[in-house]
Amino acid sequence: MVHINNIIVEPTLVNSSCAWASDFAQLESLYECPHIGAVTTRTATLNGFKEDESHTVAFSSSTASSLNSYGYSPYPLATYLEWIQQLLNGNHSTKQPQKPFIISITESKLENLERMVNDIQALRASIDDKDSNPSRVAIELNTSCPNIPGSPPSAYNSLSDSDTSLRSLLKVLQTAHQSDHTLTIGLKLPPFVYRQQFTDFITLLKDSGSNSDTKSSPISFLTCTNTLGNSLMFLEEIDEAGKFRFAVPTATGGLAGEALHGLALGNVFTFAELLAKEDALKDIAIIGVGGVTTGQAALRMRQAGAAVVGCATLLGIEGVKAFETISNT
Ligand SMILES: Cc1cc2nc3c(=O)[nH]c(=O)nc-3n(C[C@H](O)[C@H](O)[C@H](O)COP(=O)(O)O)c2cc1C
Repeated sequence: MVHINNIIVEPTLVNSSCAWASDFAQLESLYECPHIGAVTTRTATLNGFKEDESHTVAFSSSTASSLNSYGYSPYPLATYLEWIQQLLNGNHSTKQPQKPFIISITESKLENLERMVNDIQALRASIDDKDSNPSRVAIELNTSCPNIPGSPPSAYNSLSDSDTSLRSLLKVLQTAHQSDHTLTIGLKLPPFVYRQQFTDFITLLKDSGSNSDTKSSPISFLTCTNTLGNSLMFLEEIDEAGKFRFAVPTATGGLAGEALHGLALGNVFTFAELLAKEDALKDIAIIGVGGVTTGQAALRMRQAGAAVVGCATLLGIEGVKAFETISNT
């Protein structure tokens, strides 16, 4: 069992935000799956993302790896809030009454992010989540989708000070957490590939406000990592006939699954080491994601420093049975 601010994750395995946590039926089956201790929703924006046939996923035929060109969920946040309210209030036969939803959101406009956080807080108020311990709703801000033209992952530019920078977005989250410490907030990060990216990000976290009373960060968890952008697979690597030379119509996309595992482990390991050195950040938990396709891979994630382990690609390959596979191998 892991406590992350006000949520409890038990068992310490989760789905990570992905296309298979997109609609009501998928969220319901994740909520009812006894092998995961939290449900992470697909990333939502305020108004929904315009999806077309260029947004898709392909699976490697030789390893449990994927390449995707998706943006964000076509469903707006309001739809997720309705569904979550229904699942948390409904007669759903989960044997895990404390199981939380981690609501993945993103926005580059500050006022939109503010509104989304307020809407999530309104949902929490409506289900008495602010007064209950543990809480059953958390926020994960996605700072890391590699597939949005003109909108690079904000975490790759951690020291920027512009209005749309991660630093500005974190101020919104900090304000929300300052007025309600029961709100659990995490960040979904892209894979970093050299040391200074990690240390710059730690600087940003330190700057982005410990609460003066608790001296702790408003950020309670980091989910490492999202897919590796600008990756390429040829059609012959996925064993499927298609109109294009490449596995996805955009040619390049985000790489995940086994092909990402070593880099994801390295990100978890480096963050675990750096966070432990900082008094204000040492309680931040890491959700380790990337190439977790077996129990051994999950164990490696934990040995690298993850308190909770997550996966997406195996969920796409096996459905919710993936979590039984990871739990039993
Ligand atoms: C098809 C697909 C869609 C994804 N969509 C999202 C998303 O909406 N938000 C997000 O934060 N990550 C998204 N991801 C990234 C996953 O959460 C995860 O970080 C990444 O796939 C690495 O984990 P894996 O190796 O288990 O797939 C997506 C991944 C895949 C494969």
